Amino acid sequence: MAYETVTLERKGGVGILRLNRPDKLNALNSTMKAEIGQALDDLDRDDTIRVAIITGAGPKAFAAGADINEFQNPTALDQWKNYGHTQLYNVVDRFSKPLIAAVNGYALGGGCELAMVCDIRIASDRAKFGQPEINLGIIPGGGGSQRLPRLVGLGAAMRLILTGEMIDANTAKEIGLVDEVVPHEELEARALALAGAIAEKGPVAVRLAKEAVKASTRLPLDSGLRYEQSLFSIVFSTEDRGEGVKAFLEKRPPRWKGR
Ligand code: COA
Repeated sequence: MAYETVTLERKGGVGILRLNRPDKLNALNSTMKAEIGQALDDLDRDDTIRVAIITGAGPKAFAAGADINEFQNPTALDQWKNYGHTQLYNVVDRFSKPLIAAVNGYALGGGCELAMVCDIRIASDRAKFGQPEINLGIIPGGGGSQRLPRLVGLGAAMRLILTGEMIDANTAKEIGLVDEVVPHEELEARALALAGAIAEKGPVAVRLAKEAVKASTRLPLDSGLRYEQSLFSIVFSTEDRGEGVKAFLEKRPPRWKGR
C-alpha cells in the first residue's frame, strides 16, 4: 500500500514506520494520523512481523505535535466525536505486537503522546520532549494528562503540562519518560537491535506478556493478578511452552512455532 505521509519498511521480522513530513517537523495532520493507523493495521495482520518501530524522517523531529493548522476550525463537537475507536492514540494503544518509539528529535504535544503510547522509548541524545499545548491555550488531548503522570509521576507531569517547557533526552530519562538515550547516529541501529532481540522470542508469549503488562495500567492489583493468571494459563496450552522448556533442558536454542 502506498502512503503519502508515512513510509513502511520491513526488515526481517521488524516493521519500521517512519513519520514522513520532515519539512513540517512531522506534525501529525489528519492524513498522517489515518495512515499511521492503516500502517499499524498492516503490520498487525502480517504474521512475519513480530515487532514494530515508530520513528521520524529527517534530522530534527520525531513529531512536533498535532498539525496546528488543523486547530483553527474544529468545533467542540468535532473534537468530541474524534475520540473513541478511531482516535490515533487509541488505535496505537490496540496494536498487539511490541512497539518501540525511536525518538530522533522533537517529540512535542501529540508527538510526545505518540511516544508515550508505545511500549518502549529509546531517544537520540538530540531528542526534546514536551507538552506545549498550554502555550496555544489548550490542553493535551492525546492522552498526555493521563499517560505522562503514569510514567513520570504527578509532580513532573504537572510541571511539563502547566509550563509547556521542553526537556532534553537525558532529563526525560531521569524522570522515566524514556528508557534509554543513545548517540543520535546509533538510534536506529539500537532500536533495530532491541526489536530483533524481542523478535527472537516466542511470538505468542511476547503478545501475552505485552497484554498482561498493559493491563496493569487499567486494572486494580487484585484484578490484574487474576488476569495475569488467566494469560499464564493460556500460555501453558501452547506448543511453544513445551519447546521452550525442552530446549532449556537440552541446552539448545528453542525453535518457536508461534502456537
Ligand atoms: N503544526 C504545524 N506545523 C508545524 C508544527 C506543528 N505542530 N511544528 C512545526 N511546524 C512547521 C512550521 O510551521 C514550519 O513550517 P514552514 O517552514 O512552512 O513555516 C516547519 O514546521 C519548521 O518549523 P520551525 O518552527 O520553523 O522550526 P524551528 O526549528 O524554528 O522550531 C519548534 C522548532 C519545534 C520549536 C517549533 O516548530 C514549534 O514550536 N512547533 C510547534 C510545537 C507545538 O506547539 N506542538 C504542539 C501542538 S498541540
